[in-house]
Amino acid sequence: MIKNFAYILALLCFFVSCKKNNDIKETRKKGLITQNAMVVSARVEASKIGSDILKKGGNAFDAMCATQLSLAIAYPYAGNLGGGGFMVYRKANGNIGSIDFREKAPMAATKDMYLDENGEVIPEKSTLGAMAVGVPGTIAGVFEVHEKLGSLPIEDILKPVIALAHKGVVVTEKQEKRIKHYQPFFPKANKDSIILDKLWKANDTIKYPALAKTLERILKHGRDEFYKGETAKILVKFIQENGGIITEEDLARYKAQWRTPITFTYDDLNIISMSPPSSGGVCLAQIMKMIEPFHLDEYGHNSLKAIQAITEAERRAYADRSFYLGDPDFVKIPIETLINDAYLSGRMADFSFEKATLSSDVSHGNIQIIESNETTHYSIIDQFGNAISATTTLNGAYGSKLYCSELGFFLNNEMDDFSSKPGEPNMFGLIGAEANSIIPEKRMLSSMTPTIVEKNGKLYMSVGTPGGATIITCVLQTILNIHEFGMTMQEAVDAPRFHHQWLPDVIMMEPNSFDKSIIQQLEKLGYTINEEDSPVIGIVDGILVLDDNSYEGGADRRGDDTAVGF
Ligand code: GLY
Repeated sequence: MIKNFAYILALLCFFVSCKKNNDIKETRKKGLITQNAMVVSARVEASKIGSDILKKGGNAFDAMCATQLSLAIAYPYAGNLGGGGFMVYRKANGNIGSIDFREKAPMAATKDMYLDENGEVIPEKSTLGAMAVGVPGTIAGVFEVHEKLGSLPIEDILKPVIALAHKGVVVTEKQEKRIKHYQPFFPKANKDSIILDKLWKANDTIKYPALAKTLERILKHGRDEFYKGETAKILVKFIQENGGIITEEDLARYKAQWRTPITFTYDDLNIISMSPPSSGGVCLAQIMKMIEPFHLDEYGHNSLKAIQAITEAERRAYADRSFYLGDPDFVKIPIETLINDAYLSGRMADFSFEKATLSSDVSHGNIQIIESNETTHYSIIDQFGNAISATTTLNGAYGSKLYCSELGFFLNNEMDDFSSKPGEPNMFGLIGAEANSIIPEKRMLSSMTPTIVEKNGKLYMSVGTPGGATIITCVLQTILNIHEFGMTMQEAVDAPRFHHQWLPDVIMMEPNSFDKSIIQQLEKLGYTINEEDSPVIGIVDGILVLDDNSYEGGADRRGDDTAVGF
């Protein structure tokens, strides 16, 4: 009897708890759910063009090409023709790969090109104007992806993008603020006024007829229009007239590179991320392998112990990043060792929950790294099960601020991602080493971390973010938010974030988002907290495959980011 009573009680408790869990589930914040396909990007216009391509029967690679180019119109802050990026993919059959369409140094570049006669870094030379521009890779990347993996004719991809440039894009409130903020810099880089000098207000429409014309020529003549054709000639003349050193030969020699992605496991997840010249995959692997032995799920999200374990792993990974990583075509990188279990457990051996480690005790010397926040990311899964994760950038906001009005796009300031002077921080505060020094035709080190996650051998997630040096730690936290802390995709991208990058030795935290008592405890343990300088850490976009094989989009609340699908 007692046994039966206990059984009935247990059953009752189970039903009550199921009801409670369902209630919790129903009140959870979820992103867009679709059954077939999805695109998540920084702007609805770009996501919609990508999604329409999929609806028309195109695959994720076709949609990647269209979304990438649409962002140059809808989000010129980072979307681009005059920049570069990386894409990681997983095909429906499980095959994986990645492409690097990163900018490279011009042939006339020299190691000391940003230093004065005393060997000091010349302010703004690597960030503002034509000397800051690296040879752009975006058009080469788009055409390479289309040729190898796309399925629709290039007309079907470029025509909607050209139509968007003609029709224009409505200014959002966030865009109005961004334009206003950066307007003082445009006259410093440009001799004449540019399209974004006007006092654009929310709800105005900005049209890009010059960009439409450039894209029409590219549609007519193909990839080589940008690298060898009339567009190349206009671009080189413009850069040189503004004091830059890029030549027609630089453009003609540019090639996007297929790379083998970095892969590693974390619990039952298989993570696929970008290899050098991005530091993203290696650094993410190092951090995740270092924290794998800790019970983060038991510690709790943004709890004291979780923040400590993650911070200490980040500190050690970023110290290695600074020292070892660069363009693999120019430097030998000990990747196998860097992500090896034994090496990484050795790196964490001196960590204790009792006291912060000092970065000066971890470093490989006094080398620091800095990068910009103004990149952009998009994730796509198509109706066939192919997934891509792509991150693209001009580096700084509107890149070098140099805008070619005849061609209708901004040029990058990616040269600043090299270490102009080993040991000097760049615009992201990252310190670089010899491995990332400037050499003609070398690609500058990046933090972009387009990532795809598999679970039990199946596609599980596509994720990435802008954020310069913080990209890696934002991607990390988003994956952990889902895997360790059971969040939905939308909750995972929206959750408050923190960041540590070895030097400067501070934990950056989004302001007013963390428990004050935890901040106090961290300070007592010797950590320095900075809540002032990073109102926003990353703008993550991602797609999660749910148990019933539908998709949940996570479009970060911090931007105008939007998921579109069907
Ligand atoms: N320019 C930002 C990055 O490449 O990480």
